[in-house]
Amino acid sequence: MTHVREHLGPRAGLRASFEFAEDSAEVLDGYIDAGRVLVAEDGDGLLGHLQLTETGTAGEAEIKNMAVAEQRRRGGLGRALVQAAIALAQQEGRSRLLVATAAADIGNLRFYQRVGFRMLSVERDAFTPSTGYADEIEIDGILLRDRVWLDLSLHA
Ligand SMILES: CC(C)(COP(=O)(O)OP(=O)(O)OC[C@H]1O[C@@H](n2cnc3c(N)ncnc32)[C@H](O)[C@@H]1OP(=O)(O)O)[C@@H](O)C(=O)NCCC(=O)NCCS
Repeated sequence: MTHVREHLGPRAGLRASFEFAEDSAEVLDGYIDAGRVLVAEDGDGLLGHLQLTETGTAGEAEIKNMAVAEQRRRGGLGRALVQAAIALAQQEGRSRLLVATAAADIGNLRFYQRVGFRMLSVERDAFTPSTGYADEIEIDGILLRDRVWLDLSLHA
């Protein structure tokens, strides 16, 4: 039976899961301990995680990093984690969730829109050596370069 709960305590055991969603070890070091983390698990252990952080703007929270174990993708766990994050943010009286992903990652852009997010803005050249990312990383043949921001309104 799969369930989602808040993970309390050290994050080192979750690092491999965070790495599915973060191409820069240096950048990950900078935020892995921030905010709160929800985990999806069953009797066999960790199946996925979602990290929710502050944005600096009252009423907002950001999905900073999330991933589902490779063999369990496309089974609804990503949606369950986002729904748990929405419920948590609503309980706290927040009005908006934000998320950013690579423009090159067409699959993620579909996923976030299927779970309710809408396109907000594009940050060009967000993923470069000067921001901690190796040169010439490709996703599905598209250069990892630009970041897309999406948001989801939490108003009923
Ligand atoms: C992105 C991710 C968390 C999605 O988790 P998931 O458990 O596979 O997602 P779900 O099964 O809940 O999918 C929800 C919807 O999104 C769609 N979707 C999920 N991944 C998709 C992909 N790669 N391409 C296209 N659609 C996708 C599903 O088909 C489903 O659509 P439907 O409502 O039409 O059936 C997972 O693919 C993952 O861990 N990726 C690697 C890490 C990563 O990139 N994280 C995001 C960083 S920003």
